[in-house]
Amino acid sequence: MSQANIGVYGLGTMGSALALNLAEQGFDVAVTNREVEWIADFIAEAGDLAGRLHPHEALGDFVKALRTPRVILFMIPSGAPMDAMIEVVAPLLEPGDTIIDGGNANFNDTRRRAAALAGDDLHFVGMGVSGGEKGARHGPSIMVGGTAHSWAQLEPMLRAIAADHEGDPCVDHLGPDGAGHFVKTVHNGIEYADMQMIAEVYALMRFGKGMPALDIAEQFTEWDRGALKSYLVEITGKLLSYEESGAPFVDQIRDAAGQKGTGRWTVVEAIRMGQSASTIEAAVAARSWSSEKALRQRLAEVYGNAREAVDLDVAELEQALLAGRILAYAQGFRILRQAADEFDWPLDFARIAEIWRAGCIIRSALLDDIAEAFRKGGAEGQMIEEKAIAEMLSTAVPGLRKSVCEAVAGGHAVPALSGALSFFDTMRQGSGTANIIQAQRDFFGQHGFELLGQDGKHHGPWWE
Ligand code: 6PG
Repeated sequence: MSQANIGVYGLGTMGSALALNLAEQGFDVAVTNREVEWIADFIAEAGDLAGRLHPHEALGDFVKALRTPRVILFMIPSGAPMDAMIEVVAPLLEPGDTIIDGGNANFNDTRRRAAALAGDDLHFVGMGVSGGEKGARHGPSIMVGGTAHSWAQLEPMLRAIAADHEGDPCVDHLGPDGAGHFVKTVHNGIEYADMQMIAEVYALMRFGKGMPALDIAEQFTEWDRGALKSYLVEITGKLLSYEESGAPFVDQIRDAAGQKGTGRWTVVEAIRMGQSASTIEAAVAARSWSSEKALRQRLAEVYGNAREAVDLDVAELEQALLAGRILAYAQGFRILRQAADEFDWPLDFARIAEIWRAGCIIRSALLDDIAEAFRKGGAEGQMIEEKAIAEMLSTAVPGLRKSVCEAVAGGHAVPALSGALSFFDTMRQGSGTANIIQAQRDFFGQHGFELLGQDGKHHGPWWE
C-alpha cells in the first residue's frame, strides 16, 4: 500500500465527512476509530472512495501507514480525551510530525498542548472547522493555527477540501498555536448572536405582527435575496415552512436551547480582555434563560405573558436585523483584535472575513463588504469605523432603534437586538457617563480620577 498522506482518527460525523472529502480530492487517508467496529461500516459505506481509505484497527499500524513527516487529524471530543490521546500517540511519532485537533477545542488547551509537544519537535495544530456535516463532506471553512512547518504539510490538502468562494479556498493559516481555535470560537460567538437576533425578529413578526409562520418563512426567503443573504437566514426560511397536521412544525420543538460552550468561551475571553460583546453575551444568556422552562412557566402565571402588537413593517425589521448583524460582527472582530495584541498573533481581519464567506455557518453577503472594508484598511479592526460599513450601519440603525422601541413597549424580549443598539449608542457618544462612575468610585473609595484637560490624578471636593 502506498503511504497515506494523512491519518484521520475518529470516524464520527465530522471525522467521517472530512475523511471522505480528502479521499474524494485524491488523497490517501489512513483511518481508525476508538470503537474499531465502526471502521468496517465506514469503509463499506464509502462506495467508490473506499480505494483511497486505508483502515487500521491498531494505533501503531495506523501511524506506520503514514508518509513522514506525518499528519494525523484527530476528530474526537475536545478536552480530556484529546490529552489522553496525545499521551498515547506522541511516543509513536517522530520529530516533524503534526497532530491536528479538528474539534471545537478551547484555545487555551491548544496553546498548552502546542507548547508541551514543541519540546519533542512535534507540531500541534488547532484547526477550526465550520459548516457542520455537509460542510465537512463537501467544503468547510477551515481556520488553522500552528507552525509554518505544519501549514506547509497541510496547505495542499486543506485548500483542496475547503469551501470555494469564487475560486478562493476558504482556508488559511491564521497564526501559531491557538489562533485557529480562537478564531473558530469567535466565529461561533457571532453565530450565537446572529441566530438569537433572527429568533428575536421572528418573534416580532409572529407574536408582534401576528404573521403566520408560512408568511414569515417567505419573508426570510425574500430577505435571503438581499442585504441579509446568509446561510442562517436561508435555513430559517426553510425550517419555518415545515408543517405537521396543518400547524408549523417548529411549534412542537421545546423552546429550550442547548449549547456546547463556544459561545460562552467567547464571552469569557472577551470580558477577560476588556472587550465585552453585548450581542454575544445576550445570545448566551438567552440560551441559558431558555433552558429554565419550568421557572418561566411559573413566572408566566405570576406576571402574565402578554405580548402586544408592534407597529413595525418588515422593511424596518430587515434593517434591524442588518444593523444587529453588523454590530455582532463588529464585536467579534474587536475580540479578535484584542487577542491579536495580547497573544501577538498576526491575525489578518480581511482574510478571516474572506474565509468565512463560504462553507461556514455564518457565511453571509455582509462578509464580502467586511472583507473589502478591512482590505482598504485604516481602522485597525474597528469595523464600524470603516467608511462603507459606517454608511450601511447608519442607514440600518433607525430600523433597529424603532424595532427595539416597539419590542420593549410591547413586552417582547429582544436581548441581542437591544444589546447591539446600546453598544452602538455607547460607542457613538464622544462624551458618556463614566464621569459619574469615576465620581462614585472616588466618593466611596478615594480611587481618584483624571480631569478633562489636566494631567495627573485628582479627588473630588467631597474629600476637602
Ligand atoms: C460550525 C458550528 C459547529 C457546531 C456548534 C454548535 O461552525 O459548524 O458552529 O461548530 O454546530 O458547535 O454549537 P452549540 O451546540 O454550542 O450551539
